[in-house]
Amino acid sequence: MNLIYELDNIKTDEQSLLINETLFHNANGYIGVRSNFEEGYPDGIDTIRGAYINAFYDFREIKQAEAFYGFAVEKQTMPNVHDVQGITLYLGDEPFSMFTGIVVAAKRTLNMGAGYTERYIHWLSPRGKEAEIRIRRLTSFVRPHLFLIDYSVTALNFEGPVTFVSTHRGDVENYFNPADPRLSQEHFRSLLPLEVVIEGTASFVSSATSKSRLTIRTAVDHILTDGDDGIGVITTVQEGHGAASHIEGRVKKKGILTLYKYCIFTDSLRPIPGAAAAELRRVMEEKPCALYSAQEEYLSKFWEGACIEIEGDKQLEKAVAYNLFELIQSVGKDPYSNIAAKGLSGEGYEGHYFWDTEIYMEPFFTLTNPAFAKNLISYRYGILDEARKNARLLGHHRGALFPWRTIMGRECSGYFPAGTAQYHINGDIAWSVVSYYLATGDLSFIAEKGAEIVFECARLWLDVGNYYRGKFRINEVTGPDEYTCLVNNNYYTNASAQYNLRWAVRFWEILNDADILEGVRKRIDLSPGEIDAFSQAAEAMYLPYDEELKINPQDDSFLTKKKWDMFHTPKEEFPLLLHHHPLYLNRYQVCKQADTVLAHFIFEDAQSLETMRNSFLYYEEITTHDSSLSTCIYSIVASKLGFREKASRYFGDSAKLDILNLHGNTKDGIHTANMGGTWMAIVYGFAGLRIKESGIYFAPALPESWKTCRFKIRYQDSQILAELTGRRTVFTLLSGTPKIINVYGKGYELSGSVTVQSPNPSRA
Ligand code: BGC
Repeated sequence: MNLIYELDNIKTDEQSLLINETLFHNANGYIGVRSNFEEGYPDGIDTIRGAYINAFYDFREIKQAEAFYGFAVEKQTMPNVHDVQGITLYLGDEPFSMFTGIVVAAKRTLNMGAGYTERYIHWLSPRGKEAEIRIRRLTSFVRPHLFLIDYSVTALNFEGPVTFVSTHRGDVENYFNPADPRLSQEHFRSLLPLEVVIEGTASFVSSATSKSRLTIRTAVDHILTDGDDGIGVITTVQEGHGAASHIEGRVKKKGILTLYKYCIFTDSLRPIPGAAAAELRRVMEEKPCALYSAQEEYLSKFWEGACIEIEGDKQLEKAVAYNLFELIQSVGKDPYSNIAAKGLSGEGYEGHYFWDTEIYMEPFFTLTNPAFAKNLISYRYGILDEARKNARLLGHHRGALFPWRTIMGRECSGYFPAGTAQYHINGDIAWSVVSYYLATGDLSFIAEKGAEIVFECARLWLDVGNYYRGKFRINEVTGPDEYTCLVNNNYYTNASAQYNLRWAVRFWEILNDADILEGVRKRIDLSPGEIDAFSQAAEAMYLPYDEELKINPQDDSFLTKKKWDMFHTPKEEFPLLLHHHPLYLNRYQVCKQADTVLAHFIFEDAQSLETMRNSFLYYEEITTHDSSLSTCIYSIVASKLGFREKASRYFGDSAKLDILNLHGNTKDGIHTANMGGTWMAIVYGFAGLRIKESGIYFAPALPESWKTCRFKIRYQDSQILAELTGRRTVFTLLSGTPKIINVYGKGYELSGSVTVQSPNPSRA
């Protein structure tokens, strides 16, 4: 598998720069640094120069013009933190810039196997000095506080003094755009200066967030070398709320000078032993090559379980690899953090965590690296008390309601119809806990944390819904489709509530049988009477069905509305949310994203194949896919229904969404949910994987242009390799105990390898 993503020229127009700042960012789940040029751009070129810390937040006011009871009036925002990227290189007295002199050649590389990015420039200065410049950057997975810039210059036709001016700035602010509701709307400077300390050549900058009173301390130091030893003269001085280091050396003709800039980020959420200074010393004692090899070793373990090989479409294989790499860059690896909608690559959605995690990204981790999934669930467990408070605020007497968007657990959604009203987040989180349990069999974690989440979410459904003519109904909620708000009996929501309630009952039984129910039962004072009530509501759950169209209507009123005319809508009008008032959209049958179609994937046992096929075709005509969470789901369901051409087309849009900037806003950050969705479209879509209480199921059907597709998953104590070709699939048990696998509805014992022929042409 080729793990090099490369652009062999570096475009310097504003759009390309902004997009590549995102695409080539470095992150490790703790810190993320956008790929801005160290030396900056000329005045007049817009940039989103940023570095972010996962889960680090400040509070900001939500300006509600009419602040009704219970409206969120404060949100959390991920601040842009200290800027350690600045380095200007002087060849003699000529500063290097890609906007002056002549760029003879230039290349940008992301090495996903070794875990670094690189910018290479062959440059001729205005006065004729010719140099090769190679700048590598790494955010270490093994030493998560470290961001390293490794900057080397080769003098091709000159010798003499070379100076680097390297900056460490605490005076930073966030990006904003008043015209885009997906971004912060106004100017925001969160960090207040605390102190700057210079110790020898190192600088330490500390700041505090203005309202949440969290602190950040960054430490920076340098080593200049022309081989093994440190050389040159380094002088570091305070500059405002920051520091500048002058590093002076000499280069021989054809000689190389390399500057290592070590940058340590620490914050008060996760104090580390000895803090920034000690960590700086620790990383500087290691040779850079040791840091690089540790990074590569970490990633080789990751790829060993996660990689997907596609023969027949190498471009697509690389796009898939890119998406998976971004997931490991984005996932929080400590209990404070989760995965933001844009990872750590930009400021879109302000660093918030959504249902994106549970439905779109966690499945990848659950099935390749379950420890990360466990951590993501632990994060939700950590904010369960906030979710309980949120439920009370919304008038619910029992249970917990998870916030629609959040960092530290409180609701950040200012527009409640397309935010707080999305109660399905409870069902999504419950689904992810069940999926983790089914994939891993980790019952002790369910007893410790998982079941409590599922029980509390189930309690909420009982409080939200009510019986009417014998059916349990859920009124006044919003489903996944944000162009249809505040409806009664959204099909997806009701199906997810039903699943949640059923599994609350199952977990009670399973934990009781294993004799480990008592802890959680006592903790939340859960009674058998409540379990009966869960069971009754689940069985009486109303799932809308239309006899005439033979589909599941998205909600009670959906089919009574006029249909949006997609065919005659000009291209420039998409995404519709930027051109129409929400109320206008709400009155149409028009979907921003998969809603009922998503339910047909996740809760597929609730309907017949015929209903799902009818629904798919119906909703396809009125879905804009204005949300990036949509095409991957359409691909999965198209695969299931045997629409193979559609499955490939939707998959392609999903796999290349950021690389090709298909939604036009990659500058604001990657679309992490879609990236997980790409993986799902292969594993759940083309391979037809499902894991249920009754076992593990496959129904492979590869796109016609692919020769082979190989991937691995973890299932309970085993690792299974699936190798799909058009005609057959070979399953191999790589480790663990034998398993029964069901392929196209037939059971096989997997203890070595099993080969299963594909039925032709569709498996629906
Ligand atoms: C989608 C939501 C999603 C959010 C963050 C919105 O555009 O409609 O479903 O959770 O983006 O990715």
